[in-house]
Amino acid sequence: MKGPDMTLAVCNGNFSTLRAKRLADMLKVPLLDVEWHRYPDGESGVRVPGTVPETVVVLADLDHPDPQLLPLLFLLDTLRELGARRLVLVLPYLPYLRQDARFRSGEAITSRTFAQLLSPFCDHLVTLDPHLHRYHALSEIYTVTDTVLTTADAIGVWIAANVEHALLVGPDSESRQWVSRAAEAAHAPFVVLEKTRHGDRDVDIALPDDIRLDERTPVLVDDIISSGHTMAQTVRALRKNGARAPLCIGVHGLFAGDALALLENSGAASIVTSNTIEHASNAIDVFPLLASALAEILPTS
Ligand code: R5P
Repeated sequence: MKGPDMTLAVCNGNFSTLRAKRLADMLKVPLLDVEWHRYPDGESGVRVPGTVPETVVVLADLDHPDPQLLPLLFLLDTLRELGARRLVLVLPYLPYLRQDARFRSGEAITSRTFAQLLSPFCDHLVTLDPHLHRYHALSEIYTVTDTVLTTADAIGVWIAANVEHALLVGPDSESRQWVSRAAEAAHAPFVVLEKTRHGDRDVDIALPDDIRLDERTPVLVDDIISSGHTMAQTVRALRKNGARAPLCIGVHGLFAGDALALLENSGAASIVTSNTIEHASNAIDVFPLLASALAEILPTS
């Protein structure tokens, strides 16, 4: 990693300052001060009081993208106006990817519009485990260059260290990419189930007839825990078939509404997430992954 470099700084989009500071420290660069303001009518204001370096790494949370996006765009635009020549946007969780088709007539393909909105404001995007299903690469909708990292290996290593005789379970076909790679890293078998979604909070999970639970502990692995229904229904389906209490691992723990309680009450033994989104369930640290990827991308002093 590089020594202190005044041409480079980490800037806290809307992250917890502690987390942004941690990344800045890992990269051995300063943390740029940002002052946020909320006007009485609800509009946002932002000020960058210090000198803006040539390259700025902006770390931002977009787990509540609708209220968070506009302030982030204000910040990025201001950094550019104040002299930043290269803006590297780090979004550990990249939202608005699941609506990647017009599933019902007349529906907005929000993933495309969101990508069009964000792309002009940065030069490079760094993210972890984006929900790429019908899109095979972010470049299909984003016009910036990107670095896509995965937590799958770290999840596999965590499972190997914490669970004996694990059987990794992907709740639906979309989870295959994560569960298969995590299983390889965990040296454990995996199975992918079949999900039918009837609504936001209404999913059915079907187990294959030949599923062999034996004496194994099921470990559910999925990219996103949103309403929690996918995981909860999978836990219930497994328990109904005589499985031990499963562990649930999600890369991005959004935990919308009562998702956590729903999952805890479904019969799950425990719930673990990566810290792409800050939550009490965080156990898999993505910061070393982010720091080493950034060290490759950023200019050397
Ligand atoms: C979709 O396919 C994703 O991979 C997740 O399975 C989904 O977003 C989980 O959503 P929920 O927690 O609302 O069931």
